[in-house]
Amino acid sequence: MRFEALSTLTAAALAAAAPATAPVEARQEKTDVPNVTVIGTGGTIAGVGSEFDTTGYEAGVIPIKTVMDRIPDLDTRANVSAIQYSNKASEAFVSSDMVDIAKLTNDLLCAPDSDQAGVVITEGTDTVEETAFLLDSLINCNKPVIVTASMRPGTAVSSDGQGNLLEAITLAGSEKAKGRGAMVVLNDRIQSAFYTSKMNANNMDAFDEKNAEIGGFLNYEPYFYYTQAQPTFKKTFNLDETLKNNATSLPKVDMIYGSQDFDSGLITAAASLGSEGIVIQGVGEGSIPSFAVDAINEVVDQGIPVVVSAKPIYGASVPMEDASSASYIKSGYVKAAQAKVYLELALANGYNMDQIRELFEGDLRSAIFHQ
Ligand code: DGL
Repeated sequence: MRFEALSTLTAAALAAAAPATAPVEARQEKTDVPNVTVIGTGGTIAGVGSEFDTTGYEAGVIPIKTVMDRIPDLDTRANVSAIQYSNKASEAFVSSDMVDIAKLTNDLLCAPDSDQAGVVITEGTDTVEETAFLLDSLINCNKPVIVTASMRPGTAVSSDGQGNLLEAITLAGSEKAKGRGAMVVLNDRIQSAFYTSKMNANNMDAFDEKNAEIGGFLNYEPYFYYTQAQPTFKKTFNLDETLKNNATSLPKVDMIYGSQDFDSGLITAAASLGSEGIVIQGVGEGSIPSFAVDAINEVVDQGIPVVVSAKPIYGASVPMEDASSASYIKSGYVKAAQAKVYLELALANGYNMDQIRELFEGDLRSAIFHQ
């Protein structure tokens, strides 16, 4: 594989969107294959440990270009450029990282003179679903955005990173991948970013969310179960509007986990720590104990929206038929981690309470209550 300087476009996109220190690698020259850029951020796919180490290894160590170099004949799939945005574990991502990655992806793919067919983001699996959901909501130029990762570092016996990255790059360069929103690729699965979740903390089939599955790979080549489609409940936001006034991060939204013996003081505490919005993962389909309602009403009265998601992975947090019967908003089919992202985006776009309720509840409300 031959690597050369980045194209002017890619270099400009990086300069505009990523931290000044982000090292840049790569560009191959071939005209009969698509151009794809891989943005490396860290995680297990860049991890190092012993051959038998699938838990105690160090994540985010080797450059993404080194992972790419281990893939045979990659240049028959795409002209691949690599951008090393960061090399860290995904639990260490902060809001400004997400903003940088969204801007970088958007500049690479959606600029009027873009020469890129698709973008791949490599990341630790722990927060892949949040990155993928954010990009799905913000990158709207019909080109594939693929988030991939691995559950075993490249040093482990039977590691999965190389194969996942090869499949992600192939998918990013594929015509078949257009118009399907952002997707997550791991373990031969193609999953819709809107619906996917990490389902297993340890094994290689960590993203086997059955409602999210839209396709797979054979011989590292992608296929889809359906013709081009987007998730019914998906909403999109304009990136420039979202980041108006040169915002470098999104509004602060915090999350509270529901349980027996729930302490509603956490809601008040979140507000006093500066939360601009709160997501509560309610038990079951988003049930809130009656003794917590006063605390919720109090923060909503202060202008802080409270969105309640379901705790089980499958199923919806169902809106109440009479929207005025609760000050909080039910998240519908949007899960807790993803509801946090939606709420951040809604707040960044200046949505009022009614607009936020419509964002989360609107489609389901019209489907089941015909409102
Ligand atoms: N903590 C991890 C991360 O999200 C490493 C594990 C992984 O990549 O699956 O970066």
